[in-house]
Amino acid sequence: MSQRTLVLLKPDAVKRGLIGEIIRRIERKANWTITALELRTLDRGVLEQHYAEHVGKPFYEPLVDFMSSGPVVSLVVEGERVIEGVRALAGPTDPIAAPSGSIRGDFGTITRENLIHASDSEESAEREIKIFFPGIS
Ligand code: CMP
Repeated sequence: MSQRTLVLLKPDAVKRGLIGEIIRRIERKANWTITALELRTLDRGVLEQHYAEHVGKPFYEPLVDFMSSGPVVSLVVEGERVIEGVRALAGPTDPIAAPSGSIRGDFGTITRENLIHASDSEESAEREIKIFFPGIS
């Protein structure tokens, strides 16, 4: 089943020079294609929309500070079971719990600075793609 997903390479990934490594892991998967890509520093308005479900949680403000601390690479990736697949490449939210071989397991440090975001469902993907790439239908 072909799907699309919104992937963010967070400010820690950009600052640590891990963009190429992470994109390489995504590109290596057969039948997945990057169909949009942008580097930009996110403002609080975009982050409030993106993280709407987390507004008010204890980690929300530090998360927004971190996510607006430097440029982020946003991508749309399309392909076979790509939603589940990119989340598997990323590994669990907590880098300590993430297995070796996953992006967070290999490079992650703390839960907030966990390098990559990937949509968790088709509904989330469509909502998030509209926020980051409003020109894409
Ligand atoms: P992500 O899954 O991309 O989206 C929510 C983000 O909130 C998550 O990555 C982490 O960056 C951050 N996050 C989630 N839970 C916590 C937590 N308990 N403490 C700090 N940051 C968190």
